[in-house]
Amino acid sequence: MRLQDKVAVITGGARGIGLAIAQRYLHEGACVVVADIDTSSIDSAVAQLNSEANASGRVLGVTLDVCDRDSVATMIRTVTDQCGGIDILVNNAAVFDMAPVLEVTEASYDKQFNVNVKGLFFTLQAVAQSMVDRGKGGKIINMASQAGRRGEPLVSMYCATKAAVISLTQSCGLALIKHGINVNGISPGVVDTPMWEDVDALFARYEGRPLGEKKRLVGEAVPYGRMGLPEDHAGAAVFLASSDSDYVVAQTLNVDGGNWMN
Ligand SMILES: NC(=O)c1ccc[n+]([C@@H]2O[C@H](COP(=O)([O-])OP(=O)(O)OC[C@H]3O[C@@H](n4cnc5c(N)ncnc54)[C@H](O)[C@@H]3O)[C@@H](O)[C@H]2O)c1
Repeated sequence: MRLQDKVAVITGGARGIGLAIAQRYLHEGACVVVADIDTSSIDSAVAQLNSEANASGRVLGVTLDVCDRDSVATMIRTVTDQCGGIDILVNNAAVFDMAPVLEVTEASYDKQFNVNVKGLFFTLQAVAQSMVDRGKGGKIINMASQAGRRGEPLVSMYCATKAAVISLTQSCGLALIKHGINVNGISPGVVDTPMWEDVDALFARYEGRPLGEKKRLVGEAVPYGRMGLPEDHAGAAVFLASSDSDYVVAQTLNVDGGNWMN
């Protein structure tokens, strides 16, 4: 087991990619903290994880709003009290919205930048401070997106937030490696999660398509031959959380079936 006795906080861990990473970390021996804003989803995720056969780690559910610094501080205190400190942060929580550039609202801009950039950064900062104070180093994995690699006409704000995640991963990675904290990122492509149900419905609205068509087309266009599944990202998340990646610093790894080359 590659994460034996490590304590891993996964923001947005109650469903989708975060939940798949939580499941794999549990089988790798970690104490997994499912930290999410959606309390009812936390309960079902924790129940699902606790029912996993042959999983050797343990599970804790914590309500967290990454946009609220008090909530982040409370999460860190709770995890430190119950598990002894945080070794791994998967900074995964995010929201999606889209609109033509001429119709983007301030509310949509604020929501996406608040969660995807401000929330991600200040969660990283607070957890990194706890890692520095503890003096044992750590691993931080930021969830970016292929949307951060180039713009899209209908997805300008989300793309901009994910480009910011890639940039923050570089700056924070360079700043924190002297403390033994590796900051890296994962860049998924198109992944079949609840988020993509919303994405598909928004494309249907703005491109005049039947529901489900955009999702089918983006899946067919992936060189691998299908959309990603949440569990496709778990191996990279284990690698970046384990000592195997100690010499990997400030990188964002594409896990996207071949969609992007850089
Ligand atoms: N699904 C895709 O196609 C895709 C592609 C590229 C990147 N990503 C990224 O991967 C990550 C996971 O995506 P997903 O598809 O599993 O998303 P999802 O919408 O299925 O899950 C996101 C989780 O984040 C939680 N969350 C939202 N706001 C929060 C907040 N303020 N505080 C704490 N938790 C909050 C939600 O409750 C939810 O459980 C995200 O960063 C997303 O941007 C997804």
